[in-house]
Order: sequence, then structure tokens, then C-alpha cells
Amino acid sequence: MVTIDRERFRESFENYSRIGATANGGLHRLTLTEADKRARDTFVDDLEALGLDVRIDRIGNIFGRRDGTDPTADPVLIGSHLDSQPYGGRFDGQLGVLASLETLRGLDDEGVETERPIEIVNWTNEEGSRFQNALLGSSVFAGNTELETALGLTDDEGTTVEEALGEIGYDGDHPAGPSDIHAHIELHIEQGPSLEAHGNTLGIVEGVYGMSWLRATITGDSDHAGPTPMHTRSDAMATAADAVSEINRLPNRLSADAVSTVGEFTIGPGSINVVPDTAEFTVDVRSDDDSVVAEAVTRVKQEVEHACSRHSTTASVEDVWSIESTAFDDSVCDVIESVADDQGIAHERMPSGAAHDAKHLNDIAPTAMLFAPSVDGKTHNEAELTEWDDCVRTANCYAAVTVELATQ
Ligand code: GLV
Ligand code: MN
Ligand code: MN
Repeated sequence: MVTIDRERFRESFENYSRIGATANGGLHRLTLTEADKRARDTFVDDLEALGLDVRIDRIGNIFGRRDGTDPTADPVLIGSHLDSQPYGGRFDGQLGVLASLETLRGLDDEGVETERPIEIVNWTNEEGSRFQNALLGSSVFAGNTELETALGLTDDEGTTVEEALGEIGYDGDHPAGPSDIHAHIELHIEQGPSLEAHGNTLGIVEGVYGMSWLRATITGDSDHAGPTPMHTRSDAMATAADAVSEINRLPNRLSADAVSTVGEFTIGPGSINVVPDTAEFTVDVRSDDDSVVAEAVTRVKQEVEHACSRHSTTASVEDVWSIESTAFDDSVCDVIESVADDQGIAHERMPSGAAHDAKHLNDIAPTAMLFAPSVDGKTHNEAELTEWDDCVRTANCYAAVTVELATQ
């Protein structure tokens, strides 16, 4: 039996939340930045204080290992991510890493020895905001992305992942390859409204939506905003605006769970009295059904083409990143459910519309996730909140599931 120390967990959450804190109570800690380095340094110190064997792999994932009584047994892997969105919330990712840390502290407090080793992890670049492959560290670890491809990704300034890792001193030398893992669980906030709406306090996550990211570049011709008649223009901005409106309507035409988002948008040359000659925007489409995602991608490309023909412009649409939908492991979901029943926690099984590193781990080990409720479902926003009672309740369930899996 492990009990989460409510106050120590809170203190640790507040401490980490100061690293990259925003004025509005959020977190701005993009992957492989100076703030991420400080969070990583704190994490490594915390792992070392627990006497764990710490290792950093070539993509910067940080692992700590707590030995079990059977040195030959495969470990149970727990953890999440410490990077955040720009002006994001404090709970996304960080809560799962710190619940994992507190689980290990709780095991030590109570002198619990498990048969299997337990490994804790902080994955590199879960968010995919600075380097646009989300779930990067876990994808390399699971063998789903080549290390060299991952290291060569660039941010908006042209800095590569490899350079950024070197700059913050997290270019580790441990192979970033799959290892044998008995089971993996990740605790995360729900980031949606379902638990609150149903009056439940735990989500047992059965899978993750499929999703695709695209980047559209529209090319027109710049002109004077005064003398150039409307019908002779080749306006990249007007094209993009048309296309974006259509992309926003697409989900309703496809399926009840489909969603689409245009999250980045830039135009050039960027002058009040010049017809824009370039527009660039990103598209994120998701659904539980991969065929819906595929159809959405096709339709996005068609809508951009149609908008171009209306405005005498041209465009290219590039596929940036995608993952297929995932079904997590039933037996791990069942362990979570039986622990939740023992602890009297009201739960529901649900899919995740948000991407999670557990998606990739599921390819190499039996995996599932636990969700804590998000107040108003608000997330990727500085106002993101999960009530502390909910954090502690979910962490207690997570700790018990970890012990259960580590004694299997
Ligand atoms: C990550 O937060 C994602 O779902 O894109
Ligand atoms: Mn996350
Ligand atoms: Mn996120």
C-alpha cells in the first residue's frame, strides 16, 4: 500500500510550477529551452535524492530506475512530460511526472519493495509546439521515429533538436531504443469536459484519437491596397480566410467526434496598405476513426485548392505529422478499474482526443492511462485547473496500480 503525501506532492507541484511560470498563473516552458532545462535539472536532482540510477538517452528522455527484488524482471514504466505549450497550463504533463515521483517517494516512505523494478520517465518534446513532431521522445524510444530524423527537426529559428539538446546539456549517450517493459501507465489531466459532465472523478483511458497535422502555404501577388481593383487581385490572405472558414466547418460534415483547428497563421509582407502575397497556416484534424482523419486531410487539401481558384492564387499543402488511433491494453485498463473500485472512485472508460506519449509506448508494452478531471475542460490555457483533491485521488489510484503491476 502506498499513500500519496498530499502536502509534499503539492509543494513539489508548486516548486516545479515556478519554473517557467507566467504572470497569469500558467506555464511557458517549451521543450529544450532554458526553462525546460531548469525543470529537467530539478527532476534529475529529485531522482538522485531518491538514490535512483538516472540515465539520459540520445533524444534527451530522462529515466530513473528503482530496483525490484527480482533483478531479471522487466520494469513497470511510469511518467509523462515536463514541457508545456506556449502560455499553457501547469497540469498538462507535469502532474503525471510529479505523481510518478511522489509514488516512488511513497514507496520509500513505507519501505515497500516490489518484485519488478519501477522506472520513471520524463519524455522529450511531448507538446510538438516548438519542434512539430509531437510525442517525439516516446516515438523515438518506441522505434516509431528514427533518431536521426528526430535530431534533425528544426524550430522556427532553424535550431535543430540536436543543437537544442546540446545547448541545455541533455544530449545523453544512452541508446534511445526500445527496451523490455512489463507495462506502462501514464497519469494525465483529462483536458476535456466528460468527467465533470458525468460526475466521475477518474477516466480510464482506452485509447487515443488518430490525428494529422498539415501546413498550407498560399502564394499570391502583392499589390497596392488602393488602386488595385478587387477583381484583379491575387490575395493570399483572402484565399487563406476562405479556406480556414471551410476547414472549420469540416468536422460537422464528417463525424460527431471529428475536430479541426488552425492554430498558427502568418501573412506577408505584412503592411496595412499592401495586398498580401503569402499566407501560411497549420491544420490539426482529429477523430477516433482513422478513416475520418484521412477523409478530413483530403477535404482540407480540396478546400485550399478551391479557395485558390476563387482568388487566382496557388498553394502547397504539406503533411507535417500524424499518428493513427490507438487502443490501449484491456488488461491494464482492468487493473486500473479494479483498483478504482477498491478505492471507491467513480470512473468511466473514455478515449483521449489529446495525444499522449503512452500512445507510442502501447506499441512496445501493455499500456493504459488514468485521467484526472479538468475544471471546465479547460486546457492548453493558463487557466487550466485540476482541483487538488482530484490530483491526490488520481495519484493514489495510480500509485496502487503501479504497485499492482510491479508485483505481477
Ligand atoms: C498535445 O498536447 C496534443 O494533443 O497535441
Ligand atoms: Mn500532455
Ligand atoms: Mn498538451
